[in-house]
Amino acid sequence: MKIGIIGLGFVGLSLTSVLSSKGYDVVGIDIDEGKCGKIAKGISPFYEPGLEKILKNGLKKKLKISNSFSLINNCDLIFVTVGTPQNLNGDIDLSIIKKAVSTIGTNLQNSKKSPIIFIKSTVVPGTMKKIILPILEKKSKKKAGKDFGLISNPEFLQESTAIKDTKFPHAVVLGGYSTKFMKKAKKFFEKLHPNVPIIITNHQTAEMIKYANNSFLATKISFINQLSNICQNIPGANIDDISKTIGLDPRIGKLFLNAGPGYGGSCLPKDMKALINFANISGIKPTLLNAVEEVNTNQLEQIILISKQRLGNLNSKRITVLGTAFKPNTDDIRDSIAIKLINKLLKRKAKIIIHDPRAIKNTKKIFGEKITYTKSIKNALSKSHCAIIMTQWKQYEKLNNKDFSYMSKKLVIDCRRMLLAKELDVDYFAIGLGKEKWNIL
Ligand SMILES: NC(=O)c1ccc[n+]([C@@H]2O[C@H](COP(=O)([O-])OP(=O)(O)OC[C@H]3O[C@@H](n4cnc5c(N)ncnc54)[C@H](O)[C@@H]3O)[C@@H](O)[C@H]2O)c1
Repeated sequence: MKIGIIGLGFVGLSLTSVLSSKGYDVVGIDIDEGKCGKIAKGISPFYEPGLEKILKNGLKKKLKISNSFSLINNCDLIFVTVGTPQNLNGDIDLSIIKKAVSTIGTNLQNSKKSPIIFIKSTVVPGTMKKIILPILEKKSKKKAGKDFGLISNPEFLQESTAIKDTKFPHAVVLGGYSTKFMKKAKKFFEKLHPNVPIIITNHQTAEMIKYANNSFLATKISFINQLSNICQNIPGANIDDISKTIGLDPRIGKLFLNAGPGYGGSCLPKDMKALINFANISGIKPTLLNAVEEVNTNQLEQIILISKQRLGNLNSKRITVLGTAFKPNTDDIRDSIAIKLINKLLKRKAKIIIHDPRAIKNTKKIFGEKITYTKSIKNALSKSHCAIIMTQWKQYEKLNNKDFSYMSKKLVIDCRRMLLAKELDVDYFAIGLGKEKWNIL
């Protein structure tokens, strides 16, 4: 059995590496020639823990990397994992996936196989039936369900644990018609992930499951952030004890209850926007989802407010941003809250110095010469008026009085409560901590 994977980003390259390292005959295809060249040498174009190791393992077996779509002609299973970003108006941008399935369709014309095409990219409900299926049938001049299978197969992996999540997903969703292709797909996944629940449903439900998943996670984050705001006005209150305790209730669960500067990353913000737009178009007012977004936006505003309250006018103030990656153990800064924060601070003419263990290269692509970058935390803090811990990188746990002694004014805004237990000789503010505990010099 030959497997083709189209789009070698976080989702596609993780799947390519996991399947090929298990011995499957895989061809990974990406439109970006430079990216293909790197991957073929065992180098990942982005940082993901453990990825390069199993990629190299796959390359020693049967894995091939190419930018030639004709190779899908021999494939029995084709996974589409290209990006579905958001437009400027927040709507889902389907142009990339339309182009990818159009090329697949054209190539299918010459294929002697009857492959199953799995769409792993996140798409709003109705996209498979109204857009992807007609493009594939038109371009291939073949019939879905007869000449090829088409299955919605949303992905739930998280960056920074993408390999583990790809190997051990919590569920597999297969959306589509009840055909011979669906039976074959079920068999494939039963063998790949024994004991993992397989949910078989229709296309539109499968598409909606992905949005339900991500909007619920965003809701949990905004919920705990809203509570953390309330805690800030209860002297001595600590949001972490609250999260820990409610997280022990099996009806709630402990994950995604870490108060912080708000949710960011390549998925939650764009999927929330797409679902809100979709609901509005469907005539449903998404009151709760709108509130989740509003809480998220306000969360960032309070960081600006604290810095303004303590520093006055931010013009020419040196502000150190610790962490620009949207979460630790990734170099991904897409829709990162730290990037939004920097933009807001630059508007107020602050001088920004950033440190991040992995994401400096990507951050430079956005800000160029407008800000200063350093690989040394000590240099980042030197002569700074304010340090803001944005990403929960392990390195920042070690910060101590000596590190802060290089600052001109010792204002520390700890969005992750990483330094809470330390006796710091600084002006210390932490998100989710009752004011009594704020150490105001
Ligand atoms: N990143 C995540 O954590 C995550 C998790 C779950 C679901 N998803 C969804 O999975 C999809 C992929 O996300 P990602 O983060 O891996 O995207 P990505 O942007 O990292 O990667 C997409 C890849 O597709 C390639 N590509 C673009 N057009 C192509 C074409 N016509 N043919 C072949 N390759 C093409 C790009 O060069 C890129 O390498 C999105 O819909 C996303 O919402 C992402």
